[in-house]
Amino acid sequence: MSSGTKAVVRTYQNYVGGKWVDGSAGETFPVYDPSTEEVIAQVASATAADVDSAVKTARAAFDSGPWATTTAQERGRILYKFAEKIRQNAAHLAEIECRNSGKPIVEAEYDIADAATCFEYYAGMANKVLGHVNPVPANALSFTMREPVGVAGQIVPWNYPLVMASWKLAPALAAGCACVLKPAEQTPLTAMEVASWFEECGVPPGVVNIINGPGETTGAALVAHPGVDKIAFTGSAAVGKIIVKSAADTLKRVTLELGGKSPNIFFADADWEASVDGALFGVFINQGEVCSAGSRILVEKKIYSKFVEAMTEKAKRIKLGPPLERETKMGPLVSKEQHDRVSSYLALGKKEAKVAIGGGRPTAFGKGYYVEPTIFYDVDNNARISREEIFGPVASVIPFDGEPDAIRIANDSPYGLAAAVWTRDIYKAFRVVKSLRAGIIWVNHMQPTYVEAPWGGYKQSGFGRELGPSGIEEYLETKQVFVNLDEAPIGWY
Ligand code: NAI
Ligand code: MG
Repeated sequence: MSSGTKAVVRTYQNYVGGKWVDGSAGETFPVYDPSTEEVIAQVASATAADVDSAVKTARAAFDSGPWATTTAQERGRILYKFAEKIRQNAAHLAEIECRNSGKPIVEAEYDIADAATCFEYYAGMANKVLGHVNPVPANALSFTMREPVGVAGQIVPWNYPLVMASWKLAPALAAGCACVLKPAEQTPLTAMEVASWFEECGVPPGVVNIINGPGETTGAALVAHPGVDKIAFTGSAAVGKIIVKSAADTLKRVTLELGGKSPNIFFADADWEASVDGALFGVFINQGEVCSAGSRILVEKKIYSKFVEAMTEKAKRIKLGPPLERETKMGPLVSKEQHDRVSSYLALGKKEAKVAIGGGRPTAFGKGYYVEPTIFYDVDNNARISREEIFGPVASVIPFDGEPDAIRIANDSPYGLAAAVWTRDIYKAFRVVKSLRAGIIWVNHMQPTYVEAPWGGYKQSGFGRELGPSGIEEYLETKQVFVNLDEAPIGWY
């Protein structure tokens, strides 16, 4: 099965200091279309020396460059122009995102629009960053200034490539920072497509640098570099822990958006159709490659069997297929590595629980890293498939008996990114909201994400918040200025 016309294999260089540059070792790595398993691009690999040069470029652009001193109004205008450029090229970017990540084209179109919205939001925020006047005694004045944190190293994953890059670049640029972004090695293409547009829209050269390469070398060199003031990372908890340890040597600021095992809780009184739909949407959107995936589906005992049956029936109708086809609701996973990882959890799940549907690779496709939407039921919350992030279309359905039991099971997880609760009883809904230890809670929905509202996790899902006003806070330092208004000497000695 092929996803339409064969893509031309194109080579992308890295983008540093406003110039396209090869890796200094002259190496490139292949980038794939996961639906055909074919190479669609080659991308220059940045060595530690290349990371050093990108950081020094960003450092120079920040320390002596014009961006931080550009007026906030002007930064906003430039970012708004960049958002417009994304919108003008949305169809082109969506197609590349779709081919490279395997996500359905309709979802890729939403993603590109979301990336533009993120730049628009922080464009508007650039000149709304305010300081305070502090109430010190009358013979003095104290105020706080907000200043950009400096050079931001930004490392993003492959599940929402351009969206994740936007969540990091937009607030950092609005704040006046200089950036070195490292896309995921699986999905660098949309970031490289837009790289030179920043300068085109008026961002000075050196302020946005985008380099590629493996996390273990290129990413690690960026995290360790003493010229970087802050690391913003989205990815696995395992790598989050490595980053915190490495960043400790230079005491960089770190924000982490890590994985989850988010509970999607269904009470018997919830709207039936909406619930069944919401359970599937919560875990299968974007092939389940979602940090906030509702991968633990907690269902009240009274409706449990019927609910599993209804989910299963509806899941049979989910259309798997080539991501470029508009009817496709689920494409392949992003890579062979991810397919192998998810497949090993499918094998484990068959030992730990019962299979309602799925559990393997669909037979309809000769090629591509497809996985069937899979529902495990009668799953114990202590099973590994209930505790570990799978990051594929795999649901664990777990029964509960009453509100306290639901809360106990929901919170019994090392993660705390998101949760959802479905009920018509508003007393119960808000009691559960207050009891859940997670950074994002949905009531009678799961997954809607708006740039206006903060995003981030409790517990091992990380720290710091992206989006909303908090998103720009993470790129600002606070400077407190004390002004003595009393001309007399201190008179202490
Ligand atoms: P990963 O955490 O290894 O990769 C994410 C990003 O971190 C990539 O850009 C990668 O190059 C970089 N990276 C990797 N190792 C690094 C290091 N030592 N220093 C600096 N940067 C490094 O995730 P991976 O291997 O792609 O997927 C593994 C699992 O991670 C998935 O199955 C999923 O459970 C989880 N994950 C969670 C995401 C989220 O949105 N929270 C996104 C992607 C993966
Ligand atoms: Mg990894």
